[in-house]
Amino acid sequence: MKLDEFLRLNAPEELAALTLAIAKSSVTIWDNIPFKSGLLADVNPSGETQKAIDVFSNDVFVEALTSTGCAGEVASEEMAEPAEAKGGVSVAMDPLDGSSNVETNNPLGSIFGFYSKKLPTSGRNLIGSLYVTYGSMVTLTLSFGKGVHRFVAVREGADMNFELLGVNLKLPQKPEVYGIGGSAKDWIPPVGRFVDSLEERGLRVRYCGTFVGDYNQVLSRGGIFAYPQLVNKPRGKLRVLYETAPISFLNEQAGGYGSDGRQNILDLAPSELSETSPAYIGSAPLVRELEKAVLAG
Ligand code: F6P
Repeated sequence: MKLDEFLRLNAPEELAALTLAIAKSSVTIWDNIPFKSGLLADVNPSGETQKAIDVFSNDVFVEALTSTGCAGEVASEEMAEPAEAKGGVSVAMDPLDGSSNVETNNPLGSIFGFYSKKLPTSGRNLIGSLYVTYGSMVTLTLSFGKGVHRFVAVREGADMNFELLGVNLKLPQKPEVYGIGGSAKDWIPPVGRFVDSLEERGLRVRYCGTFVGDYNQVLSRGGIFAYPQLVNKPRGKLRVLYETAPISFLNEQAGGYGSDGRQNILDLAPSELSETSPAYIGSAPLVRELEKAVLAG
């Protein structure tokens, strides 16, 4: 089944329009990565002024989302102030997650949260979220509060279409992988102890350094991703509104749990657009265990 047909049957109209705009734009982003990242600067076919790939991605998504008439505002990691528009949905996005990984060809991603209230607001006001991964395949994984579903981009002639790859994705019962951001020497002690115990339990470390790339494998294999509280960075690194709340929303739909070490990430109420928090996301039993350990200190 194609994405547009799926959305017609399963999504509120506004979210369907926003998702289709994102899907179309993600192909543009993917096509432009070698050029806008400067890797093929000399052969840029359009001949236009080079923009960094993250600024380019931001501009493409802002234009596409505001043109749907369904976004009321679009806030982005790349902009100090949201772009205002006339629709009803507040969109928060990280237009190109992991952009520092371009040269090494690690997966990159784009993350979107659809909120029913003006931003910044709590993850409890999410009505949907999705992420795109640009890896060995371009995939789009979404949830509108009724399960998690995944699509893959396939070329059909001159067009790219998104075909349904999986419905009602759930984190596997048996966790297999973990990935923890930052340097081990900077993690707060309970995180280090927990990681040692994961090794003893036979989980394998898998870390690519792009949040959605790392989360995506946790969703497929079971386990945990964390960008933890660091000794010298108590509020972690990842942004609540743009990154961790949207992924936590989707992760709960897949049967998982996301915590900042004290409480559900969805209960955080950021007062600033780019507020960060520690993030522990993945299989519910593991995240709850780590949350308990962090609380105990
Ligand atoms: O927020 C940007 C980001 O690249 C995330 O995608 C990723 O999880 C994190 O930074 C990696 O940070 P570090 O290199 O400190 O592990």
